[in-house]
Amino acid sequence: MTETLVNYIYIVSAALFILALKWMNSPASARRSVMAGELGMLLAVVGTLLKHDVVSYQWILIAFFIGSAIGAPIAYLMPMTAVPQRTALSHAFGALAAALVGTAEYYRETPHGFVMVAIVVETLLGFLTFTGSLMAFGKLQEILPQRPIVYRKQNLINFTMFAIAAGLGVRLALVPEDVWIFPIFAGLSLVFGVLLIIPIGGADMPTVIALLNSYAGLSACAMGFALNNKLLIVAGALDGSSGLILSIIMCKAMNRSFANVLFGAFGQLQAAQVKVEQRAVRSATPEEAAAILEAASSVIIVPGYGLAVAQAQHKIRELYDGLTRRGVDVKFGIHPVAGRMPGHMNVLLAEADIPYDRLFEMDDINSEFPQCDVALVIGANDVTNPAARHDKSSPIYGMPILDVDKARTVMVIKRSMNPGFAGIENELYYLDKTLMLFGDAKYFVSEVIKELPTAVRA
Ligand code: TAP
Repeated sequence: MTETLVNYIYIVSAALFILALKWMNSPASARRSVMAGELGMLLAVVGTLLKHDVVSYQWILIAFFIGSAIGAPIAYLMPMTAVPQRTALSHAFGALAAALVGTAEYYRETPHGFVMVAIVVETLLGFLTFTGSLMAFGKLQEILPQRPIVYRKQNLINFTMFAIAAGLGVRLALVPEDVWIFPIFAGLSLVFGVLLIIPIGGADMPTVIALLNSYAGLSACAMGFALNNKLLIVAGALDGSSGLILSIIMCKAMNRSFANVLFGAFGQLQAAQVKVEQRAVRSATPEEAAAILEAASSVIIVPGYGLAVAQAQHKIRELYDGLTRRGVDVKFGIHPVAGRMPGHMNVLLAEADIPYDRLFEMDDINSEFPQCDVALVIGANDVTNPAARHDKSSPIYGMPILDVDKARTVMVIKRSMNPGFAGIENELYYLDKTLMLFGDAKYFVSEVIKELPTAVRA
């Protein structure tokens, strides 16, 4: 009876997880998506608590209080810009939990056959994801050096280490009684997680985190097979595949291959390529910028990472309101990898209640730049660099960009001529039609708003 009830609960829960992923597709349904995911998780927990044979209520209660005491403040206090590292921490502990469950199952039952294979996969992925995610967290939080840590024959050493761990895993799967192998196998998996991540530059971490997310999901999926829990299998598979798809989307949007992200030591390579060139650019004051914006009939705002750094979203909303009231058609062009995590710009702009129907994806807005009076780039750099279209020697060659250079006038708010994430100069800044608006994004936009006529500001 309980078994049937639990199965029904699990089916509803799995359906809610799938709906949550589907609704995540659009900002308009994103809130519903989060609620569906939360409800699905609540049902999954309640369903599992009904299984008296697999639960120990007192330990769960203790874990519940400790987990909530740590999790709730993190959720409330963590700033938006720190979400990538927070996600890395969640993956680290999720994966560790999966690996420890696998370890416990191994020592408790020493199972054979398929279940043992599942435990090997679960612990291998779980342990390497645990240390790998901690490394990713450390790099993003700048506790560890952001630059790729490289040494000779690194890839060879890494592959050898992985091959030994995988070989021991195969041996364990075939002869589970060889208990001495397990600690070595687990230790190598932990070390491999560290070695896998240290050669990757800090700025590539979001892509890596999506990949680690996928590993953690696959580990949970294997745990589902080991524990014969269907919901874990479904949820783990959804997590594993969505993480993988997300990292593929991110790689495509940066025109990079997986191999390049994982083994390319990207940050270092780029830093060496920064050219120090002294060419003239034209700059303008907030007053001049306000006059140009006011006179325009269509403006496309292109936000980037600098918007997140400056936390300028509420000021941008004020600017949007001011210009819209004045009759200017204002749209937002969002590049898929603008910022440092997927959906970064959408979340920030949604926080400032900018209407969703004003946000356009790159492919939908690019054809509009030639007819647009002003492209206002706010804290975005690489995603607007025309070199990506024609300069074969550029590291971002082939990366799809927002065609802001085709607008009649381009205005760029940033603090200096410093490069963005890819570490290269942006030729957009040297065009005759481009005006540089030097300053912090929040500060500069506030100054522009002050310069707009009172009727507009109200
Ligand atoms: P970036 O190319 O990194 O440029 C951001 C610009 O913002 C910088 O040039 C910086 O110039 C400016 N900035 C920083 N703080 C500012 C502030 N307080 N006020 C005004 N401007 C400020 O950013 P993007 O155009 O958004 O491109 C994203 C990059 O990250 C791409 O290269 C992408 O491949 C990479 N990436 C993205 C992701 C995801 S999923 N989004 C993941 C991995 C990598 P100043 O220092 O002169 O102010």
